[in-house]
Amino acid sequence: MTDRQTPQPKRLFIETYGCQMNAYDSERMRDVLGPLGYAVTDKPDDADLVILNTCHIREKATEKVYSEIGRLRAHKERRQAEGKGMTIAIAGCVAQAEGEEIVARAPAVDLVVGPQAYHKLPELIARAARKTGERLAADFTAQEKFDALPERAPDGVTAFLSIQEGCDKFCTFCVVPYTRGAEYSRPLADVLAEAQALADKGVREITLLGQNVNAYHGDGGAGFADLLARLARIEGVERLRYTTSHPVEMTDELIALHGDEPKLMPYLHLPVQSGSDRILKAMNRKHDSAFYRDIIARLRAARPDIALSTDFIVGFPGESDKEFEATLSLVQDVNFASAFSFRYSARPGTPAAAMMAQVGEEAKAERLARLQMLLSEQQRAFNAAQIGRVLPVLVTGQGRKAGQAHGRSPYLQAVHFDAPSARPGEIVPVRIVASSQNSLSGELARTPVIA
Ligand code: SAH
Ligand code: SF4
Ligand code: F3S
Repeated sequence: MTDRQTPQPKRLFIETYGCQMNAYDSERMRDVLGPLGYAVTDKPDDADLVILNTCHIREKATEKVYSEIGRLRAHKERRQAEGKGMTIAIAGCVAQAEGEEIVARAPAVDLVVGPQAYHKLPELIARAARKTGERLAADFTAQEKFDALPERAPDGVTAFLSIQEGCDKFCTFCVVPYTRGAEYSRPLADVLAEAQALADKGVREITLLGQNVNAYHGDGGAGFADLLARLARIEGVERLRYTTSHPVEMTDELIALHGDEPKLMPYLHLPVQSGSDRILKAMNRKHDSAFYRDIIARLRAARPDIALSTDFIVGFPGESDKEFEATLSLVQDVNFASAFSFRYSARPGTPAAAMMAQVGEEAKAERLARLQMLLSEQQRAFNAAQIGRVLPVLVTGQGRKAGQAHGRSPYLQAVHFDAPSARPGEIVPVRIVASSQNSLSGELARTPVIA
């Protein structure tokens, strides 16, 4: 074969913003484009195809997209001057919410594709190459997307599995019901088949994904707890996690399963947003703080070592100092292993954006700093409490230094340890000797694991 006949691999750069749903979708886009000869690169400047998988949740996230497009335009122009091209595609929630605006504001963008249309990417790219300039956003259903996507090609021992999309909860601050549409659950058999295929390819830990993952309702009346119990029976799947769940969907069966099913990891991300009942009501969260505390108490009764994580919004319209203090007391009472906290960001079209009494940026910043200080103290303390324990660690890879490995604790902590012979996918006992804000380090233990 001469050089001329060898097809040049095309380079694909994907930048992922936002939540794990986008991380999953980016992986699937890579799977769709692989057979077309696209190999992933980590350098946007030399890519033939750049996909920005965007997030619309806060104003900052959206602004980032436009500034990134500006940077890409320069690369595109340089490549064009060299006689090469660069296709720029905007995917994800900004594409869904502001597709027309992107096309109008950013001529460098070749195509805009919403979250339900990723299976159409090959066709769209071909059309973009013919310079027809298109936008394809909401024209497909989640079912069509999942059915048309190719088989998974996982690249590690942990994987996301999307089981549910969209949201009907309509929290007054949130754009997700508008960007991802109505709640949709994948059929049980499809989820089980995808999990089996992942296990066959070496995946040991599966994280089920959905905007309201525990609202999952499969065909034949299967609820989320049933699905988890079925997944736990798949040989090779050693660990199960799920995110993000909503407090009102924590059923008795699901709470009980945390005590009964050893493959279900003792870690739960359960967003609460605020500790004030009046704010929770104004947010349309559909529960009060006593309800949340009660779920936590019942989860801890079922699985005493369960680690909890959450999300908070500070400075929701009308939030008083006293109402913010109620959030701090909830944090004190629950004691979180980790948490995400955000300043309220008014999103166009959401009910909260039109509410009177928006909180000033200065007050928001001050509240966020106080909350985050308390949350990081709790996170450090939680990590430090593991010192001296022997934890079952799922080996995820080799460390940078020879003889080192890294892995995941049951509580989703990153663990670094010395183990020259540890192979990815094994679960090994590690004695924890040190901790930091974000990780643990330890040594391989000879004693058996007492989980
Ligand atoms: N479905 C998940 C959360 C999705 S968005 C749930 O119901 O909990 C992730 C987090 O972003 C939310 O939990 C919330 O804390 C934050 N968030 C959403 N909209 C926001 C806004 N307008 N301003 C600031 N934070 C926001
Ligand atoms: Fe947004 Fe609320 Fe739905 Fe979560 S439950 S995605 S915060 S509307
Ligand atoms: Fe962002 Fe869309 Fe996820 S708005 S948080 S990427 S569902």
